[in-house]
Amino acid sequence: MSDPARFLGGFAQALASMTLYKDGHPARERAIDAAYQELRDLQTATPRPLFTFLGDEIIFDRLPLKELKAWDWSRRLADAGVQRLEFADQVSREEFEEFLEEILARLTLAFINTAEARPQRRSSIRFGAVGVRGEQEAPQESLPTATISFSLGDEADAIRWLHQEVATRGDLPLVEAEAVVRSLSVAMHGGQQIVLPLLQLKEFDQYTTTHSMNVSVLAMALAEFIGLGAADVRAFGISGLLHDLGKVRIPIEVLTKPGKLSAEERELMNRHPADGARIILESEEDLEVAAVDAYEHHVMLNGGGYPPFRFRRECHRASKLVHVCDVYDALRTKRPYRDAWAQEKVVAYLGERAGEEFDPEIVGPFTTMMRQWEPQLAVLQDEAAVVPNT
Ligand SMILES: [Fe+2]
Ligand SMILES: [Fe+2]
Repeated sequence: MSDPARFLGGFAQALASMTLYKDGHPARERAIDAAYQELRDLQTATPRPLFTFLGDEIIFDRLPLKELKAWDWSRRLADAGVQRLEFADQVSREEFEEFLEEILARLTLAFINTAEARPQRRSSIRFGAVGVRGEQEAPQESLPTATISFSLGDEADAIRWLHQEVATRGDLPLVEAEAVVRSLSVAMHGGQQIVLPLLQLKEFDQYTTTHSMNVSVLAMALAEFIGLGAADVRAFGISGLLHDLGKVRIPIEVLTKPGKLSAEERELMNRHPADGARIILESEEDLEVAAVDAYEHHVMLNGGGYPPFRFRRECHRASKLVHVCDVYDALRTKRPYRDAWAQEKVVAYLGERAGEEFDPEIVGPFTTMMRQWEPQLAVLQDEAAVVPNT
């Protein structure tokens, strides 16, 4: 068995014995010691182990951990709001025990709330990701606490890896795409209020990464704002994340060329919607909406944009929604020939073009949402850079 699987085994055993035995009981101490030792072993090879629990699936370091297929703690942890578990540094034995107690409290709380007050369950136990940090990093903090990783560095890494996989193998790693969307959704809901964690460019080559992530966050926020259910919200998140997937087929020189594109380059660029849709459909039939969104996200309400339709028809509502989020994020980013636009200017632009380029029924709620949630915008990595062509 691999180290991560052994750790999770020990972790579950420790939780189980903690429900049975009181503090100080030898059996309980032994189980905690064993789990702690497994963690130390795991951290010799992987200093910052990261687990994601998605129902029955466990992701370790962005790859599914297949050995523990029937490990029912994954679902229990996910249901209790513990969707992510990261050890950012070495932790002491005491910290580890406190952390186990906290997890146990959450599991118990989830259980009680499920049994007694089901409707309240989601809001009362909606915890963010669980972070456990080492002593050096946060000496006075009594941990573990529910923290939201606002750097979103892991999600960005996962998206970069995902694009690479698609570019080199042509296959879309759906489990990881879903893990990223779930994680972004957790980041949005981690606190008392909803937060829109939008990433700003740090390096030139990060454009597609940050843009995909931001469009995913915006699409989920808007879907939630207009009252769609959780499954739909996540589907919109996936659509946002994958809308520009076809760009993996465009040479980087074209993507990053400053100034006007030649006719051939423009043609290459305009292929990304169809390419993206094809990649998505070839990988996963169930992602029909995401494929349609990838295909239609540059089509305007009045029929302009690209790719051209042979017969005039209306775009899918999800495509219109992603289109608005796409343009919003693009305008909020610095370009070689202009600065990033201020929020109000972008909102005004969307309003002016509603009825022509954008669907007023999408722009309306989007504008209301952005005005209402502006104080909750968390703009991260405040370093704008040049961005590629769209
Ligand atoms: Fe695009
Ligand atoms: Fe885009």
